[in-house]
Amino acid sequence: MRTKIAGIGHYVPEQVVTNQDLEKLMDTTDDWITERTGIKERRFGSRQKETTTTMGAEAASRAIEDAGISKEEVDFIIFATLSPDYFFPGCGVLVQRELGISNTEVGALDIRNQCSGFVYGLSVADQFVRSGTYKNVLLIGAEMHSMGLDFSTRGRDVSVIFGDGAGAVVLQPTEDENSGILTSHLHSDGRHAEELAFISPGCHGGYHGQPEQYGFSDDPYDTIFITQKMLDEAMIFPNMNGRHVFKFAVQKFPEVIMEALKTAGYQPSDIDLLIPHQANLRISQFVQKVLKLRDDQVYNNIQKYGNTTAASIPLALSEARDKGLVKSGDLICLAAFGSGFTWGASLLKW
Ligand code: ACO
Repeated sequence: MRTKIAGIGHYVPEQVVTNQDLEKLMDTTDDWITERTGIKERRFGSRQKETTTTMGAEAASRAIEDAGISKEEVDFIIFATLSPDYFFPGCGVLVQRELGISNTEVGALDIRNQCSGFVYGLSVADQFVRSGTYKNVLLIGAEMHSMGLDFSTRGRDVSVIFGDGAGAVVLQPTEDENSGILTSHLHSDGRHAEELAFISPGCHGGYHGQPEQYGFSDDPYDTIFITQKMLDEAMIFPNMNGRHVFKFAVQKFPEVIMEALKTAGYQPSDIDLLIPHQANLRISQFVQKVLKLRDDQVYNNIQKYGNTTAASIPLALSEARDKGLVKSGDLICLAAFGSGFTWGASLLKW
């Protein structure tokens, strides 16, 4: 018994934000962004209408329809995001409600693995399906990054990279030996946790840095989740040590892809399509070069959508499928690296 992707769908908000639009907000240029990241434009959700959950629900509806099932047949939901609507509860239950799934037999799980969230979610779903526990697992990756980025020059190294969007798949059991997930490999190294992180607000006390640095007091009745200092000094944004992330990403992507290929008895030349997490076009190009892959073996769409973190792989896979670039029997490799650091790869036959 294997787990196959029985349905797939994606959703991106209408509003296109170009590099030229960002030039009006901060000291940056289209040339800088294009040269360092490959990104030309990204989508931003409508603040009045959209959230991570609503975008995820739209992608999920399309995946459910594509799988030819009804929403009531979904028996487990996995939602991967770093930009949830609420601190808690997570988007898993919110999307259940948004989709109108009233069946309370359905479990809802939230995954907080940032860029590798979809690959982690796929592996979790695979275990549930292969063990016979669930027959229709809905896995969603969605992000509304635009709600929490610093669009002043201070935040330019991070904010030019990220965009909003969602992708979803329905996973089902198959006995067809020529389709489904062949192998998944997950890794983590928490020593790099703060190199790419959204630390505040958060109740981290003196765990990271000095308590005074964040405005924490000794008063046991003072809130330490969000302090005035965090707001005054604009600490409530993601931070990234770009060079450090780049250095590890270009090392770990090829390593984990090779690990998956070796386990399943393949080599890079056998890959029909590699869909790397769309972190940065330069990272994808580096990985392609190291693995000696042709252009038609790697799919990138970061140029149009920016980095959509947990949504990037299902968004790219869904778009590639719609363009006819994914055919029955193709060997597909999905690989991700990101905050944590966490990274992983899945190899599957379409
Ligand atoms: N526009 C113009 N100038 C900028 C911008 C910007 N948006 N951002 C930073 N700069 C400036 C810096 O201030 C710096 O100026 P200085 O030399 O006067 O100090 C200069 O550009 C170079 O900055 P660096 O950070 O050294 O630039 P680098 O060449 O490392 O490129 C980048 C930055 C693109 C973030 C790169 O480090 C990178 O690609 N890192 C990988 C991180 C990544 O891809 N993250 C994606 C999210 S994480 C994930 O999904 C895995």
